[in-house]
Amino acid sequence: MADVIRCEAVGLQYVRGDGPEVLHDLSFGVPEGGFRWLLGPSGAGKTSLLRLLYLAVRPSRGRLEILGTEIAGVKRRALPGLRRRIGVVFQDFRLLAHLSAFDNVALPLRIAGRPEGQIRADVTEMLRWVGLSAKTASRPPELSGGEQQRVAIARAVIARPDLLVADEPTGNLDEAQAERLMQLLQEMNRLGTTVLVATHNEGLVRRHPARTLRLSHGRLIADGGVG
Ligand SMILES: Nc1ncnc2c1ncn2[C@@H]1O[C@H](COP(=O)(O)OP(=O)(O)O)[C@@H](O)[C@H]1O
Ligand SMILES: [Mg+2]
Repeated sequence: MADVIRCEAVGLQYVRGDGPEVLHDLSFGVPEGGFRWLLGPSGAGKTSLLRLLYLAVRPSRGRLEILGTEIAGVKRRALPGLRRRIGVVFQDFRLLAHLSAFDNVALPLRIAGRPEGQIRADVTEMLRWVGLSAKTASRPPELSGGEQQRVAIARAVIARPDLLVADEPTGNLDEAQAERLMQLLQEMNRLGTTVLVATHNEGLVRRHPARTLRLSHGRLIADGGVG
């Protein structure tokens, strides 16, 4: 099966040609339908690696292939189409403050041009699943951190992306909500989505053993094991 993520000796410098390299010599692959935990202490480079994977930054060296496309050589105009196939749960949510929870979650479906009737049904069902049926009309500033995180999760998965990357998606959730999120990720993964989750939630990792990428000081120190 083709790799959805393929990194070969990838390095990242935020300031090109200057400043420190924050990721060094990363080489790993994740096949279609794979699930990976991304672990490592704060500052290890987890968010930076996820930014590379959702195409917010480009590697400063090495070769990065996402969904079969080599990123260094890709034309700028090809990026939006590729990004639409990637769902992202941002650590800081990045919800649109002027839109309701419903409209935030509906956004990827509207961009994809889905019919409004289907959007209504899908978004209503998804908000019900994450326990926000009573908050569909609320705007992010009126929601708690945990509620905003659940809106962000719903938005990331609603369009069934080929690749889902989540940056500490349980940081604001209680244990029951975190388990519910895992059910959602596992169900998507079972249906074929490749999933990568950066987390500090050790209990969650223990309860859901999976292959693990471990970063330390910007280097990949393990790719394997379980949790
Ligand atoms: N936008 C940025 N510009 C420059 N350096 C950054 C930027 N974002 C993160 N860094 C640096 O990259 C390193 C890794 O950070 P990060 O990827 O956020 O780690 P983690 O998510 O594992 O906590 C840190 O040393 C951090 O200071
Ligand atoms: Mg981080």
